[in-house]
Amino acid sequence: METLECLIFHIIFFLFHLILFLYLKRTYKERERYRASYQETNPAMAIQINSLFTLPILLCLVSIISIVAAVQPSHFDTSSLNRSSFPSGFTFGTASSAYQYEGAANEGGRGPSIWDTYTHRYPGKIKDGSNGDVAVDSYHRYKADAYISKAMNLDAYRFSISWSRILPNGKLSGGVNKEGIAYYNNLINELLANGVEPFVTLFHWDTPQALEDEYGGFFSPHIVNDFRDYAEVCFKEFGDRVKHWITLNEPWTYSTGGYASGYLAPGRCSDWQQLNCTGGDSATEPYLVAHHQLLAHAAAVHLYKTKYQVSQKGKIGISLVSSWMIPYSSARHHQNAAIRALDFMFGWFMDPITSGTYPHSMKVLVGNRLPKFSKEESEMLKGSFDFLGLNYYTSNYVAYAPQLRSGNKSYLKDPLINLLTERNGIPIGPKAASDWLYVYPRGIWDLLLYTKKKYNDPLIYITENGVSEANDAKLSLHEALADNMRIDYHYHHLSFLSKAIEDGVRVKGYFARSLVDNFEWNAGYTVRFGFNYFDHKTGVNRVPKHSAIWFMSFLKR
Ligand SMILES: *[C@@H]1O[C@H](CO)[C@@H](O)[C@H](O)[C@H]1NC(C)=O
Ligand SMILES: *[C@@H]1O[C@H](CO)[C@@H](O)[C@H](O)[C@H]1NC(C)=O
Ligand SMILES: *[C@@H]1O[C@H](CO)[C@@H](O)[C@H](O)[C@H]1NC(C)=O
Repeated sequence: METLECLIFHIIFFLFHLILFLYLKRTYKERERYRASYQETNPAMAIQINSLFTLPILLCLVSIISIVAAVQPSHFDTSSLNRSSFPSGFTFGTASSAYQYEGAANEGGRGPSIWDTYTHRYPGKIKDGSNGDVAVDSYHRYKADAYISKAMNLDAYRFSISWSRILPNGKLSGGVNKEGIAYYNNLINELLANGVEPFVTLFHWDTPQALEDEYGGFFSPHIVNDFRDYAEVCFKEFGDRVKHWITLNEPWTYSTGGYASGYLAPGRCSDWQQLNCTGGDSATEPYLVAHHQLLAHAAAVHLYKTKYQVSQKGKIGISLVSSWMIPYSSARHHQNAAIRALDFMFGWFMDPITSGTYPHSMKVLVGNRLPKFSKEESEMLKGSFDFLGLNYYTSNYVAYAPQLRSGNKSYLKDPLINLLTERNGIPIGPKAASDWLYVYPRGIWDLLLYTKKKYNDPLIYITENGVSEANDAKLSLHEALADNMRIDYHYHHLSFLSKAIEDGVRVKGYFARSLVDNFEWNAGYTVRFGFNYFDHKTGVNRVPKHSAIWFMSFLKR
Protein backbone atom coordinates (compact mmCIF):
# COMPACT_ATOMS: atom_id res chain seq x y z
CA MET A 1 0.00 0.00 0.00
CA GLU A 2 1.57 3.28 -1.08
CA THR A 3 -0.82 5.29 1.15
CA LEU A 4 -3.59 7.63 0.17
CA GLU A 5 -1.22 10.58 0.24
CA CYS A 6 0.78 9.07 -2.58
CA LEU A 7 -2.27 8.35 -4.68
CA ILE A 8 -3.51 11.92 -4.31
CA PHE A 9 -0.09 13.15 -5.34
CA HIS A 10 -0.20 11.06 -8.50
CA ILE A 11 -3.68 12.32 -9.41
CA ILE A 12 -2.68 15.96 -8.98
CA PHE A 13 0.46 15.29 -11.00
CA PHE A 14 -1.65 13.78 -13.76
CA LEU A 15 -4.21 16.59 -13.81
CA PHE A 16 -1.49 19.19 -13.96
CA HIS A 17 0.02 17.67 -17.08
CA LEU A 18 -3.36 17.10 -18.66
CA ILE A 19 -4.16 20.80 -18.33
CA LEU A 20 -0.76 21.72 -19.69
CA PHE A 21 -1.29 19.35 -22.60
CA LEU A 22 -4.74 20.78 -23.44
CA TYR A 23 -3.40 24.32 -23.22
CA LEU A 24 -0.54 23.54 -25.58
CA LYS A 25 -2.84 21.72 -27.95
CA ARG A 26 -5.10 24.77 -28.16
CA THR A 27 -2.18 26.93 -29.16
CA TYR A 28 -0.74 24.26 -31.41
CA LYS A 29 -1.66 25.91 -34.67
CA GLU A 30 -0.24 29.20 -33.57
CA ARG A 31 3.02 27.58 -32.51
CA GLU A 32 3.26 25.69 -35.76
CA ARG A 33 3.40 29.02 -37.39
CA TYR A 34 6.30 30.10 -35.11
CA ARG A 35 8.01 26.83 -35.74
CA ALA A 36 7.84 27.23 -39.47
CA SER A 37 9.43 30.64 -39.19
CA TYR A 38 12.07 29.47 -36.65
CA GLN A 39 12.90 26.48 -38.87
CA GLU A 40 14.59 28.84 -41.21
CA THR A 41 16.24 31.24 -38.80
CA ASN A 42 16.86 29.12 -35.68
CA PRO A 43 16.49 25.30 -36.03
CA ALA A 44 17.50 24.62 -32.38
CA MET A 45 14.59 26.71 -31.10
CA ALA A 46 12.23 24.78 -33.33
CA ILE A 47 13.30 21.50 -31.71
CA GLN A 48 12.73 22.99 -28.26
CA ILE A 49 9.22 24.02 -29.20
CA ASN A 50 8.65 20.53 -30.50
CA SER A 51 9.74 18.88 -27.22
CA LEU A 52 7.69 21.39 -25.25
CA PHE A 53 4.74 19.81 -26.93
CA THR A 54 5.66 16.12 -26.55
CA LEU A 55 6.94 16.26 -22.95
CA PRO A 56 3.47 16.76 -21.37
CA ILE A 57 2.17 13.78 -23.35
CA LEU A 58 4.97 11.63 -22.02
CA LEU A 59 4.47 12.85 -18.47
CA CYS A 60 0.74 12.14 -18.74
CA LEU A 61 1.54 8.57 -19.71
CA VAL A 62 3.99 8.22 -16.82
CA SER A 63 1.38 9.47 -14.35
CA ILE A 64 -1.23 7.06 -15.68
CA ILE A 65 1.18 4.17 -15.22
CA SER A 66 2.07 5.26 -11.70
CA ILE A 67 -1.60 5.68 -10.75
CA VAL A 68 -2.29 2.16 -11.92
CA ALA A 69 0.72 0.94 -9.92
CA ALA A 70 -0.43 2.85 -6.84
CA VAL A 71 -3.96 1.43 -6.83
CA GLN A 72 -2.80 -2.13 -7.50
CA PRO A 73 -3.27 -3.87 -4.14
CA SER A 74 0.25 -4.59 -2.89
CA HIS A 75 1.04 -7.39 -0.45
CA PHE A 76 1.16 -4.93 2.49
CA ASP A 77 -2.51 -4.20 2.03
CA THR A 78 -4.18 -4.11 5.43
CA SER A 79 -7.40 -5.45 3.92
CA SER A 80 -5.92 -8.95 3.94
CA LEU A 81 -3.77 -8.93 7.11
CA ASN A 82 -4.90 -6.72 9.95
CA ARG A 83 -6.02 -6.73 13.61
CA SER A 84 -8.90 -9.06 12.78
CA SER A 85 -6.39 -11.74 11.66
CA PHE A 86 -5.53 -12.13 15.38
CA PRO A 87 -7.61 -13.58 18.22
CA SER A 88 -9.98 -11.16 19.94
CA GLY A 89 -8.38 -9.57 22.98
CA PHE A 90 -4.94 -9.73 21.36
CA THR A 91 -2.81 -6.79 22.56
CA PHE A 92 -0.87 -4.58 20.14
CA GLY A 93 1.63 -2.16 21.58
CA THR A 94 5.05 -0.59 21.22
CA ALA A 95 8.08 -1.10 23.44
CA SER A 96 10.45 1.41 24.99
CA SER A 97 12.83 1.73 27.92
CA ALA A 98 13.67 4.45 30.41
CA TYR A 99 17.23 5.30 29.39
CA GLN A 100 16.36 5.26 25.68
CA TYR A 101 13.31 7.52 26.06
CA GLU A 102 13.05 9.59 29.22
CA GLY A 103 15.96 12.00 29.19
CA ALA A 104 15.78 14.40 32.17
CA ALA A 105 18.79 12.49 33.46
CA ASN A 106 19.54 15.04 36.15
CA GLU A 107 16.01 16.21 36.80
CA GLY A 108 13.31 15.31 39.26
CA GLY A 109 15.65 13.88 41.89
CA ARG A 110 16.90 10.99 39.74
CA GLY A 111 20.17 9.31 40.75
CA PRO A 112 22.67 8.19 38.08
CA SER A 113 22.64 4.70 36.59
CA ILE A 114 25.52 2.78 35.01
CA TRP A 115 24.38 4.09 31.61
CA ASP A 116 24.91 7.72 32.67
CA THR A 117 28.38 6.79 33.90
CA TYR A 118 29.25 4.72 30.84
CA THR A 119 28.15 7.26 28.21
CA HIS A 120 29.80 10.17 30.02
CA ARG A 121 33.02 8.46 31.02
CA TYR A 122 33.55 6.63 27.70
CA PRO A 123 31.81 8.63 24.96
CA GLY A 124 34.23 6.96 22.51
CA LYS A 125 32.32 3.71 23.07
CA ILE A 126 29.09 5.20 21.74
CA LYS A 127 29.18 5.40 17.96
CA ASP A 128 28.29 9.10 17.78
CA GLY A 129 29.59 9.97 21.25
CA SER A 130 26.04 10.71 22.38
CA ASN A 131 24.12 9.82 25.54
CA GLY A 132 20.59 9.58 26.93
CA ASP A 133 20.68 12.87 28.88
CA VAL A 134 17.78 14.16 26.79
CA ALA A 135 16.88 11.10 24.67
CA VAL A 136 13.35 11.63 23.29
CA ASP A 137 12.45 13.66 26.34
CA SER A 138 9.58 11.41 27.36
CA TYR A 139 9.98 12.75 30.89
CA HIS A 140 8.37 15.94 29.60
CA ARG A 141 6.57 14.60 26.52
CA TYR A 142 4.84 11.54 27.98
CA LYS A 143 1.48 13.03 27.03
CA ALA A 144 2.51 12.99 23.38
CA ASP A 145 3.55 9.33 23.68
CA ALA A 146 0.16 8.43 25.15
CA TYR A 147 -1.70 10.47 22.56
CA ILE A 148 0.24 9.06 19.60
CA SER A 149 -0.33 5.53 20.90
CA LYS A 150 -4.03 6.20 20.95
CA ALA A 151 -3.98 7.86 17.53
CA MET A 152 -2.19 4.82 16.07
CA ASN A 153 -4.97 2.57 17.48
CA LEU A 154 -2.49 0.82 19.79
CA ASP A 155 -3.82 -1.05 22.83
CA ALA A 156 -0.73 -0.90 25.02
CA TYR A 157 2.53 0.89 25.71
CA ARG A 158 5.51 -0.91 27.19
CA PHE A 159 7.96 1.24 29.16
CA SER A 160 10.51 0.61 31.86
CA ILE A 161 10.89 2.31 35.21
CA SER A 162 14.24 3.88 35.95
CA TRP A 163 15.28 2.26 39.24
CA SER A 164 17.40 5.28 40.21
CA ARG A 165 14.49 7.65 39.57
CA ILE A 166 12.53 5.77 42.24
CA LEU A 167 15.44 4.98 44.57
CA PRO A 168 18.23 7.47 43.73
CA ASN A 169 20.72 5.53 45.89
CA GLY A 170 19.48 2.18 44.65
CA LYS A 171 18.32 1.16 48.13
CA LEU A 172 15.18 1.67 50.13
CA SER A 173 17.31 2.96 53.02
CA GLY A 174 18.48 5.81 50.78
CA GLY A 175 14.91 7.10 50.48
CA VAL A 176 12.11 6.99 47.91
CA ASN A 177 12.04 9.86 45.41
CA LYS A 178 8.51 11.28 45.46
CA GLU A 179 9.04 13.17 42.20
CA GLY A 180 9.92 9.91 40.49
CA ILE A 181 6.77 8.25 41.80
CA ALA A 182 4.77 11.25 40.58
CA TYR A 183 6.24 11.01 37.08
CA TYR A 184 5.27 7.36 36.64
CA ASN A 185 1.84 8.03 38.13
CA ASN A 186 1.33 10.78 35.56
CA LEU A 187 2.52 8.54 32.73
CA ILE A 188 0.34 5.60 33.78
CA ASN A 189 -2.72 7.81 34.29
CA GLU A 190 -2.21 9.55 30.97
CA LEU A 191 -1.97 6.20 29.16
CA LEU A 192 -5.11 4.88 30.83
CA ALA A 193 -6.98 8.11 30.08
CA ASN A 194 -6.16 7.48 26.41
CA GLY A 195 -7.33 3.88 26.61
CA VAL A 196 -3.76 2.55 26.38
CA GLU A 197 -2.67 -0.18 28.80
CA PRO A 198 0.70 0.17 30.54
CA PHE A 199 3.04 -2.86 30.38
CA VAL A 200 5.82 -2.11 32.83
CA THR A 201 9.39 -3.43 32.86
CA LEU A 202 11.15 -3.07 36.20
CA PHE A 203 14.71 -3.43 34.96
CA HIS A 204 15.99 -2.55 31.51
CA TRP A 205 19.78 -2.48 32.09
CA ASP A 206 20.03 0.79 34.08
CA THR A 207 21.47 -0.43 37.39
CA PRO A 208 21.76 2.41 39.93
CA GLN A 209 25.36 3.63 39.94
CA ALA A 210 25.30 3.68 43.74
CA LEU A 211 24.87 -0.12 43.79
CA GLU A 212 27.52 -0.58 41.11
CA ASP A 213 29.92 1.43 43.29
CA GLU A 214 28.97 -0.31 46.52
CA TYR A 215 29.10 -3.97 45.50
CA GLY A 216 29.43 -4.24 41.71
CA GLY A 217 25.71 -4.28 40.91
CA PHE A 218 24.55 -7.62 39.49
CA PHE A 219 28.02 -8.97 40.06
CA SER A 220 27.00 -9.43 43.70
CA PRO A 221 24.20 -11.46 45.34
CA HIS A 222 23.35 -8.33 47.39
CA ILE A 223 21.49 -7.06 44.35
CA VAL A 224 18.70 -9.59 44.95
CA ASN A 225 17.32 -7.95 48.10
CA ASP A 226 17.72 -4.45 46.74
CA PHE A 227 15.88 -5.39 43.56
CA ARG A 228 13.09 -6.98 45.57
CA ASP A 229 12.72 -3.80 47.68
CA TYR A 230 12.62 -1.67 44.54
CA ALA A 231 10.06 -3.97 42.93
CA GLU A 232 7.92 -3.75 46.06
CA VAL A 233 7.85 0.06 45.91
CA CYS A 234 6.62 -0.25 42.30
CA PHE A 235 3.95 -2.87 43.09
CA LYS A 236 2.71 -0.74 46.02
CA GLU A 237 2.67 2.56 44.18
CA PHE A 238 1.51 1.50 40.70
CA GLY A 239 0.05 -2.00 41.03
CA ASP A 240 -3.52 -0.76 41.39
CA ARG A 241 -3.33 0.27 37.71
CA VAL A 242 -0.50 -1.80 36.23
CA LYS A 243 -1.74 -5.29 35.36
CA HIS A 244 1.29 -6.56 33.42
CA TRP A 245 4.73 -6.54 35.02
CA ILE A 246 7.99 -7.61 33.39
CA THR A 247 10.80 -8.14 35.89
CA LEU A 248 13.83 -8.02 33.58
CA ASN A 249 14.38 -7.18 29.96
CA GLU A 250 16.84 -9.39 28.09
CA PRO A 251 19.09 -10.61 30.91
CA TRP A 252 21.15 -12.29 28.14
CA THR A 253 22.02 -8.94 26.55
CA TYR A 254 22.83 -7.38 29.91
CA SER A 255 25.14 -10.25 30.88
CA THR A 256 26.94 -10.72 27.59
CA GLY A 257 26.96 -7.12 26.34
CA GLY A 258 28.12 -5.79 29.69
CA TYR A 259 30.47 -8.61 30.81
CA ALA A 260 31.49 -10.90 27.92
CA SER A 261 32.03 -8.63 24.91
CA GLY A 262 31.76 -5.35 26.79
CA TYR A 263 30.01 -3.16 24.23
CA LEU A 264 27.27 -2.24 26.70
CA ALA A 265 27.51 -0.74 30.20
CA PRO A 266 29.38 -1.39 32.39
CA GLY A 267 31.71 -2.37 29.51
CA ARG A 268 33.61 -5.24 31.10
CA CYS A 269 35.38 -8.19 29.44
CA SER A 270 38.71 -10.04 29.46
CA ASP A 271 41.66 -7.98 28.19
CA TRP A 272 43.01 -10.84 26.07
CA GLN A 273 39.92 -10.65 23.84
CA GLN A 274 41.14 -7.20 22.74
CA LEU A 275 37.65 -5.76 22.67
CA ASN A 276 38.71 -2.50 24.29
CA CYS A 277 37.12 -3.20 27.67
CA THR A 278 37.84 -1.62 31.01
CA GLY A 279 38.80 -4.80 32.87
CA GLY A 280 36.73 -7.89 33.57
CA ASP A 281 36.67 -11.66 33.12
CA SER A 282 34.55 -13.01 30.29
CA ALA A 283 34.97 -16.55 31.58
CA THR A 284 33.11 -16.02 34.85
CA GLU A 285 31.40 -12.62 35.12
CA PRO A 286 28.63 -13.12 32.51
CA TYR A 287 27.55 -16.29 34.32
CA LEU A 288 27.51 -14.65 37.74
CA VAL A 289 25.61 -11.62 36.48
CA ALA A 290 23.04 -13.85 34.76
CA HIS A 291 22.72 -15.95 37.93
CA HIS A 292 21.96 -12.92 40.08
CA GLN A 293 19.51 -11.55 37.53
CA LEU A 294 17.64 -14.86 37.64
CA LEU A 295 17.57 -14.83 41.45
CA ALA A 296 16.42 -11.20 41.48
CA HIS A 297 13.67 -12.09 39.01
CA ALA A 298 12.52 -15.03 41.13
CA ALA A 299 12.53 -12.90 44.30
CA ALA A 300 10.36 -10.19 42.70
CA VAL A 301 7.93 -12.73 41.26
CA HIS A 302 7.69 -14.54 44.60
CA LEU A 303 6.95 -11.25 46.35
CA TYR A 304 4.30 -10.27 43.82
CA LYS A 305 2.60 -13.64 43.89
CA THR A 306 2.54 -13.96 47.67
CA LYS A 307 1.72 -10.38 48.61
CA TYR A 308 0.16 -8.42 45.74
CA GLN A 309 -1.32 -10.62 43.05
CA VAL A 310 -4.51 -11.62 44.86
CA SER A 311 -5.55 -8.03 45.54
CA GLN A 312 -4.09 -6.38 42.44
CA LYS A 313 -5.04 -9.16 40.01
CA GLY A 314 -2.12 -8.53 37.66
CA LYS A 315 0.24 -10.83 35.79
CA ILE A 316 4.02 -10.99 36.00
CA GLY A 317 6.63 -12.29 33.59
CA ILE A 318 10.08 -11.74 32.12
CA SER A 319 11.28 -10.69 28.65
CA LEU A 320 13.92 -12.91 27.04
CA VAL A 321 15.56 -12.34 23.70
CA SER A 322 16.54 -15.04 21.27
CA SER A 323 17.57 -15.24 17.69
CA TRP A 324 16.44 -18.28 15.76
CA MET A 325 19.43 -20.55 15.13
CA ILE A 326 19.72 -22.44 11.85
CA PRO A 327 22.29 -25.22 11.42
CA TYR A 328 24.91 -24.27 8.83
CA SER A 329 24.19 -27.56 7.10
CA SER A 330 22.26 -30.72 7.89
CA ALA A 331 25.45 -32.32 9.25
CA ARG A 332 24.88 -33.63 12.77
CA HIS A 333 27.65 -31.49 14.32
CA HIS A 334 26.12 -28.29 12.92
CA GLN A 335 22.68 -29.33 14.12
CA ASN A 336 24.02 -29.86 17.63
CA ALA A 337 25.79 -26.52 17.43
CA ALA A 338 22.48 -24.80 16.64
CA ILE A 339 20.87 -26.39 19.72
CA ARG A 340 23.78 -25.23 21.88
CA ALA A 341 23.41 -21.74 20.43
CA LEU A 342 19.78 -21.69 21.61
CA ASP A 343 20.80 -23.06 25.01
CA PHE A 344 23.45 -20.37 25.55
CA MET A 345 21.15 -17.52 24.53
CA PHE A 346 17.63 -18.61 25.46
CA GLY A 347 17.82 -21.81 27.52
CA TRP A 348 20.29 -20.11 29.89
CA PHE A 349 17.26 -18.25 31.30
CA MET A 350 14.35 -20.30 30.04
CA ASP A 351 15.49 -23.61 31.56
CA PRO A 352 15.88 -22.14 35.08
CA ILE A 353 12.44 -20.50 35.07
CA THR A 354 10.77 -23.67 33.81
CA SER A 355 12.77 -26.52 35.35
CA GLY A 356 14.96 -24.76 37.93
CA THR A 357 18.30 -25.72 36.35
CA TYR A 358 20.68 -24.55 33.64
CA PRO A 359 20.71 -26.40 30.29
CA HIS A 360 22.71 -29.61 30.27
CA SER A 361 25.01 -28.33 27.50
CA MET A 362 25.96 -25.33 29.64
CA LYS A 363 26.70 -27.45 32.69
CA VAL A 364 28.98 -29.65 30.59
CA LEU A 365 30.80 -26.89 28.71
CA VAL A 366 31.06 -24.20 31.41
CA GLY A 367 31.75 -26.64 34.25
CA ASN A 368 32.43 -25.11 37.64
CA ARG A 369 32.40 -21.57 36.25
CA LEU A 370 28.62 -21.93 36.03
CA PRO A 371 27.05 -21.03 39.39
CA LYS A 372 24.64 -23.50 41.01
CA PHE A 373 21.16 -22.96 42.39
CA SER A 374 20.38 -24.17 45.89
CA LYS A 375 17.35 -26.41 46.25
CA GLU A 376 15.22 -23.49 47.49
CA GLU A 377 16.42 -21.18 44.73
CA SER A 378 15.66 -23.81 42.16
CA GLU A 379 12.13 -24.26 43.54
CA MET A 380 11.55 -20.52 43.56
CA LEU A 381 12.67 -20.20 39.95
CA LYS A 382 10.60 -23.08 38.63
CA GLY A 383 7.42 -21.68 37.08
CA SER A 384 8.26 -18.10 38.11
CA PHE A 385 6.20 -16.42 35.40
CA ASP A 386 2.57 -16.01 34.34
CA PHE A 387 3.65 -15.12 30.82
CA LEU A 388 6.86 -15.23 28.84
CA GLY A 389 7.94 -12.10 27.00
CA LEU A 390 9.86 -12.93 23.83
CA ASN A 391 11.95 -10.39 21.97
CA TYR A 392 12.70 -11.49 18.43
CA TYR A 393 14.68 -9.55 15.82
CA THR A 394 16.92 -11.77 13.75
CA SER A 395 18.33 -15.22 13.02
CA ASN A 396 21.75 -16.77 12.53
CA TYR A 397 23.41 -19.72 10.82
CA VAL A 398 25.37 -21.75 13.33
CA ALA A 399 28.47 -23.82 12.62
CA TYR A 400 30.38 -26.13 14.96
CA ALA A 401 33.67 -24.52 16.00
CA PRO A 402 35.76 -27.18 17.81
CA GLN A 403 38.89 -25.00 17.68
CA LEU A 404 37.37 -22.80 20.41
CA ARG A 405 38.10 -25.54 22.96
CA SER A 406 41.72 -24.47 23.27
CA GLY A 407 43.17 -21.38 24.90
CA ASN A 408 41.63 -18.96 27.39
CA LYS A 409 38.02 -19.39 28.41
CA SER A 410 35.20 -16.96 27.67
CA TYR A 411 31.43 -17.06 27.35
CA LEU A 412 32.10 -16.12 23.73
CA LYS A 413 33.93 -19.43 23.19
CA ASP A 414 32.17 -21.83 25.56
CA PRO A 415 29.36 -22.97 23.22
CA LEU A 416 31.91 -24.04 20.55
CA ILE A 417 29.91 -22.31 17.86
CA ASN A 418 30.40 -19.83 15.10
CA LEU A 419 27.44 -17.53 14.49
CA LEU A 420 27.18 -16.56 10.83
CA THR A 421 24.94 -14.28 8.81
CA GLU A 422 25.52 -15.82 5.40
CA ARG A 423 25.93 -19.20 3.76
CA ASN A 424 27.77 -19.69 0.45
CA GLY A 425 27.92 -15.92 0.09
CA ILE A 426 24.16 -15.47 0.44
CA PRO A 427 23.02 -13.45 3.47
CA ILE A 428 20.29 -14.93 5.65
CA GLY A 429 18.18 -11.88 4.85
CA PRO A 430 18.45 -8.16 4.07
CA LYS A 431 20.71 -6.32 6.51
CA ALA A 432 19.18 -3.50 8.57
CA ALA A 433 21.16 -0.48 9.80
CA SER A 434 22.12 -2.26 13.03
CA ASP A 435 25.10 -4.51 12.30
CA TRP A 436 23.51 -7.49 14.14
CA LEU A 437 20.11 -7.29 12.47
CA TYR A 438 19.37 -9.36 9.37
CA VAL A 439 15.73 -9.66 8.42
CA TYR A 440 14.46 -13.25 8.68
CA PRO A 441 10.69 -13.18 9.38
CA ARG A 442 10.21 -16.94 9.40
CA GLY A 443 12.46 -17.13 12.47
CA ILE A 444 9.69 -15.76 14.70
CA TRP A 445 7.53 -18.74 13.74
CA ASP A 446 10.38 -21.21 14.29
CA LEU A 447 11.25 -19.72 17.69
CA LEU A 448 7.61 -19.75 18.82
CA LEU A 449 7.06 -23.36 17.82
CA TYR A 450 10.33 -24.41 19.47
CA THR A 451 9.31 -22.60 22.68
CA LYS A 452 5.86 -24.19 22.74
CA LYS A 453 7.25 -27.65 22.25
CA LYS A 454 10.34 -27.52 24.43
CA TYR A 455 8.97 -25.45 27.32
CA ASN A 456 5.51 -26.86 27.84
CA ASP A 457 3.37 -24.40 25.92
CA PRO A 458 3.79 -21.16 27.88
CA LEU A 459 1.62 -18.07 27.44
CA ILE A 460 3.67 -15.67 25.31
CA TYR A 461 3.77 -11.99 24.48
CA ILE A 462 6.13 -10.84 21.75
CA THR A 463 7.51 -7.96 23.82
CA GLU A 464 9.85 -6.63 21.12
CA ASN A 465 10.20 -6.94 17.35
CA GLY A 466 11.50 -4.25 15.06
CA VAL A 467 13.98 -3.01 12.51
CA SER A 468 16.35 -0.07 12.12
CA GLU A 469 17.27 2.31 9.33
CA ALA A 470 20.38 4.49 9.32
CA ASN A 471 20.19 8.05 10.61
CA ASP A 472 21.26 9.67 7.36
CA ALA A 473 21.65 13.44 7.73
CA LYS A 474 21.70 13.82 3.94
CA LEU A 475 18.06 12.76 3.60
CA SER A 476 15.32 15.35 3.51
CA LEU A 477 12.58 14.87 6.10
CA HIS A 478 10.28 13.73 3.31
CA GLU A 479 12.75 11.01 2.31
CA ALA A 480 13.45 10.00 5.90
CA LEU A 481 9.75 9.37 6.50
CA ALA A 482 9.56 6.83 3.66
CA ASP A 483 10.45 3.76 5.75
CA ASN A 484 8.92 1.11 3.55
CA MET A 485 11.35 -1.54 4.78
CA ARG A 486 9.76 -1.17 8.27
CA ILE A 487 6.30 -1.86 6.84
CA ASP A 488 7.74 -4.86 5.03
CA TYR A 489 9.44 -6.08 8.25
CA HIS A 490 6.37 -5.87 10.49
CA TYR A 491 4.01 -7.16 7.83
CA HIS A 492 6.03 -10.32 7.32
CA HIS A 493 6.71 -10.92 11.02
CA LEU A 494 3.02 -10.44 11.79
CA SER A 495 2.14 -12.91 9.01
CA PHE A 496 4.40 -15.54 10.56
CA LEU A 497 3.11 -14.68 14.03
CA SER A 498 -0.48 -15.26 12.94
CA LYS A 499 0.61 -18.55 11.40
CA ALA A 500 2.21 -19.59 14.71
CA ILE A 501 -1.06 -18.80 16.50
CA GLU A 502 -2.95 -20.92 13.95
CA ASP A 503 -0.44 -23.66 14.72
CA GLY A 504 -1.45 -23.53 18.36
CA VAL A 505 1.17 -21.29 20.02
CA ARG A 506 -0.49 -19.27 22.78
CA VAL A 507 0.53 -15.72 21.90
CA LYS A 508 -1.46 -12.91 23.52
CA GLY A 509 0.25 -9.78 22.26
CA TYR A 510 2.77 -8.10 19.99
CA PHE A 511 4.91 -5.09 20.89
CA ALA A 512 6.76 -3.41 18.04
CA ARG A 513 9.92 -1.51 18.79
CA SER A 514 9.54 1.37 18.79
CA LEU A 515 7.02 4.21 18.95
CA VAL A 516 9.68 6.89 18.39
CA ASP A 517 13.31 6.87 17.15
CA ASN A 518 15.43 6.81 20.30
CA PHE A 519 18.82 6.38 21.94
CA GLU A 520 20.05 3.00 20.72
CA TRP A 521 22.67 2.13 23.38
CA ASN A 522 26.19 1.84 21.88
CA ALA A 523 24.84 2.91 18.47
CA GLY A 524 23.70 6.21 19.98
CA TYR A 525 21.44 8.04 17.54
CA THR A 526 23.07 6.53 14.42
CA VAL A 527 20.16 4.16 13.83
CA ARG A 528 16.41 4.68 13.95
CA PHE A 529 13.92 2.12 15.26
CA GLY A 530 10.81 4.32 15.37
CA PHE A 531 7.42 4.49 13.70
CA ASN A 532 7.72 8.19 14.42
CA TYR A 533 10.66 10.31 13.40
CA PHE A 534 12.75 12.12 15.98
CA ASP A 535 16.01 13.93 15.38
CA HIS A 536 18.06 14.95 18.38
CA LYS A 537 20.12 17.43 16.33
CA THR A 538 17.38 19.32 14.45
CA GLY A 539 14.73 18.85 17.15
CA VAL A 540 12.19 17.54 14.62
CA ASN A 541 10.00 15.55 16.92
CA ARG A 542 7.56 12.66 16.68
CA VAL A 543 6.57 12.97 13.01
CA PRO A 544 4.78 9.87 11.70
CA LYS A 545 6.72 7.85 9.13
CA HIS A 546 4.91 5.85 6.47
CA SER A 547 5.03 2.82 8.77
CA ALA A 548 3.04 4.69 11.44
CA ILE A 549 0.25 5.34 8.93
CA TRP A 550 0.39 1.71 7.82
CA PHE A 551 0.28 0.36 11.39
CA MET A 552 -2.56 2.71 12.27
CA SER A 553 -4.55 1.32 9.37
CA PHE A 554 -3.56 -2.26 10.26
CA LEU A 555 -4.85 -1.68 13.81
CA LYS A 556 -8.14 0.03 12.91
CA ARG A 557 -10.88 -1.51 15.03
C1 LIG B 1 -9.17 -7.15 7.74
O1 LIG B 1 -8.85 -8.39 7.15
C2 LIG B 1 -9.97 -9.21 6.87
C3 LIG B 1 -9.41 -10.49 6.27
O2 LIG B 1 -8.53 -11.10 7.18
C4 LIG B 1 -10.91 -8.52 5.92
O3 LIG B 1 -12.05 -9.31 5.71
C5 LIG B 1 -11.32 -7.18 6.50
O4 LIG B 1 -12.09 -6.45 5.58
C6 LIG B 1 -10.09 -6.35 6.86
N1 LIG B 1 -10.51 -5.15 7.55
C7 LIG B 1 -10.16 -3.94 7.11
C8 LIG B 1 -10.63 -2.79 7.94
O5 LIG B 1 -9.49 -3.76 6.11
C1 LIG C 1 38.11 2.18 23.23
O1 LIG C 1 37.62 2.68 24.46
C2 LIG C 1 37.92 4.06 24.70
C3 LIG C 1 37.38 4.39 26.07
O2 LIG C 1 37.90 3.54 27.04
C4 LIG C 1 37.28 4.90 23.63
O3 LIG C 1 37.60 6.25 23.84
C5 LIG C 1 37.74 4.44 22.27
O4 LIG C 1 37.05 5.17 21.27
C6 LIG C 1 37.46 2.97 22.10
N1 LIG C 1 37.94 2.50 20.82
C7 LIG C 1 37.15 1.87 19.96
C8 LIG C 1 37.81 1.43 18.69
O5 LIG C 1 35.97 1.65 20.18
C1 LIG D 1 45.25 -15.71 27.83
O1 LIG D 1 45.14 -14.83 28.94
C2 LIG D 1 46.35 -14.36 29.46
C3 LIG D 1 46.03 -13.46 30.63
O2 LIG D 1 45.01 -13.96 31.40
C4 LIG D 1 47.14 -13.62 28.41
O3 LIG D 1 48.40 -13.26 28.93
C5 LIG D 1 47.30 -14.49 27.18
O4 LIG D 1 47.91 -13.74 26.15
C6 LIG D 1 45.95 -15.00 26.71
N1 LIG D 1 46.12 -15.89 25.57
C7 LIG D 1 45.61 -15.66 24.39
C8 LIG D 1 45.86 -16.68 23.32
O5 LIG D 1 44.92 -14.66 24.13
